Amino acid sequence: MASFDVIYIGAGPGGYVSAIRAAQLGLSVAVVEGRETLGGTCLNIGCIPSKALLHATHMLHESHENFEKMGLIGAAPRVDWAKMLGYKQDVVGQNTKGIEFLFKKNKITWLKGWGSIPAPGQVKVGDDLHDAKSIVIATGSEPSSLPGVTVDEKIIVTSTGALTLGKIPKTMVVIGAGVIGLEMGSVYARLGTEVTVVEYLDAITPGMDAEVAKAFQRILVKQGLKFILGAAVQGATTSKKGATVAYRARKDNTDATLEAEVVLVATGRKPYTTGLGLEALGVEMLPRGQIKTDAHFQTSMKGLYAIGDAIVGPMLAHKAEDEGMALAEILAGKSGHVNYGVIPGVIYTTPEVANVGQTEEALKEAGIAYKVGKFPFMGNARAKAVFQGEGFVKILADTATDRILGAHIIGPMAGDLIHEVCVAMEFGASAQDLALTCHAHPTFSEAVREAALACGDGAIHA
Ligand code: NAI
Repeated sequence: MASFDVIYIGAGPGGYVSAIRAAQLGLSVAVVEGRETLGGTCLNIGCIPSKALLHATHMLHESHENFEKMGLIGAAPRVDWAKMLGYKQDVVGQNTKGIEFLFKKNKITWLKGWGSIPAPGQVKVGDDLHDAKSIVIATGSEPSSLPGVTVDEKIIVTSTGALTLGKIPKTMVVIGAGVIGLEMGSVYARLGTEVTVVEYLDAITPGMDAEVAKAFQRILVKQGLKFILGAAVQGATTSKKGATVAYRARKDNTDATLEAEVVLVATGRKPYTTGLGLEALGVEMLPRGQIKTDAHFQTSMKGLYAIGDAIVGPMLAHKAEDEGMALAEILAGKSGHVNYGVIPGVIYTTPEVANVGQTEEALKEAGIAYKVGKFPFMGNARAKAVFQGEGFVKILADTATDRILGAHIIGPMAGDLIHEVCVAMEFGASAQDLALTCHAHPTFSEAVREAALACGDGAIHA
């Protein structure tokens, strides 16, 4: 039996980042992970491999759509699917090894296996028991299931199976127009698959600023994705050729079916807490399966903490990381804090879509008087030079104080541009503060400044 200051269960972005910070702050740390490699869902079967496929297929799309326009003549590349999957796996491998290196560097013990908590202050891995002053659950989430739809990860797949399909399907039905559905739908649409997205709600990407969601859908339709909105999937059956998806239109209750070689189920994720032994310990859970925690991430059991997808809040890797860092500080006797009002969200399609803070809809509902500063990428020279003039930056600021309340970007590098606004919001900046900051020319980020200018006396290039 070994003793540690902290034992983490789960080596995803929440657990591994927190472990590194805790070790840096002088605590003795172990991390339990049953997967062959570190990094959790995000690195092994989520954020990172999907970004590799998004990059490769974006390059393919560029070669077909834009190379000739730039005077790049020659046979357009064809896809070697096995090689593309190999590249994706290589990217994952480099990063998982990177975390292993960081564990060694920070003297973090990797307890290989699946962990459970037989008693307060104890973690069991295989037949071994370990002691810890603090235990942190960072077990993440798993795809939620849909009644009548049985996932086999071959014909009916979750994001996991969608990252390793044996061949590029001719047709695909995506259930759910959320982040996973649209990112993976984009990947396959660019590879030539006919992609139809079936969504329960009347708009894509629930929770997103409605104007951005509309513009986003228009762009995706131009890229070849088909949408059936307001349709509740009832079930799916498989045959040798593929699957049949049955759905009901919500407005008139009519039933219809769709055939496809592959069906991607992307209807959300749920906390993964199976096998930890929480029930026996009497740890308090919330109705939707999350572990209840206080403001310091402590569960109803003293010394037991939880972070990331297993607790409330957006299921995002960087939210888990920030909670992990804050918790490490707290466990080391310092003060840790997460500003939940400034957590960006990014969809890595082309164009990218990014947001932070409030949407217009939320501000209206809260009765807050706001002004809108908008700037289209068509007015940004750099964006036009790279065929990415679609989309816009929209900044929402308080009418009375000019303080930035939110930002929504659809356009080139939106996922990076958003952080300028995040930093501004962390410092309580006004739109004028952004507008008065010199921005290099020609950059995409000038569009952010122009949107800030549009909150005041007006943008220059619009
Ligand atoms: P999601 O919650 O983003 O979207 C699920 C969609 O499925 C919703 O639009 C919902 O209305 C729809 N839906 C649910 N039941 C349905 C039914 N019976 N018929 C038709 N439509 C139905 O979930 P998603 O895309 O599966 O992602 C899961 C989690 O992973 C999210 O929390 C997301 O934030 C996270 N994620 C984040 C990424 C990023 O930050 N770039 C990338 C991938 C995932």
